[in-house]
Amino acid sequence: MSKKKVVVKWSPTFSCGIKIIDDQHKDLIKLINDMYNHSSGNPKEEREYFSKIIHRAVKYVKEHFQTEEKLMIITKFPGYHEHKKAHHDFTLTVIDAVKNFEEGKRFTLLDFTNFLKDWALSHIAFMDKDYANYFKEIATPKEDGSLSLERADLERL
Ligand SMILES: [Fe+2]
Ligand SMILES: [Fe+2]
Repeated sequence: MSKKKVVVKWSPTFSCGIKIIDDQHKDLIKLINDMYNHSSGNPKEEREYFSKIIHRAVKYVKEHFQTEEKLMIITKFPGYHEHKKAHHDFTLTVIDAVKNFEEGKRFTLLDFTNFLKDWALSHIAFMDKDYANYFKEIATPKEDGSLSLERADLERL
């Protein structure tokens, strides 16, 4: 049995206070840890692993971006276009990396995972938090401390 390292640990400081978004971010961090655990330095093993997970990972990230963008649209978030562009630019970079991988160019799982981790953590800390702070201002706090968006919240916008 291989021992699993937790390289990136979920911390409450990552929380945006929106459950569906936090759950998706937690899954992304799980994926990043899984990728670190498969960074063996053995090119054959890394290629096999990466070709198995990458399409699922891309689909997953796209769904996450769609969830955030939908929330931004319905809440009329003023930074929507800038945020969507950051998602788009990131997606293009990943597609490029996958293309290079599929063309058999040099590939190191650790480099790709470091890139993914750095991008995701800084994006969550700055851009997603920015949106989350806006959401907190317009949403209705519930008794359990969570926030919900009511029709009235949207009508006030
Ligand atoms: Fe996000
Ligand atoms: Fe985002």
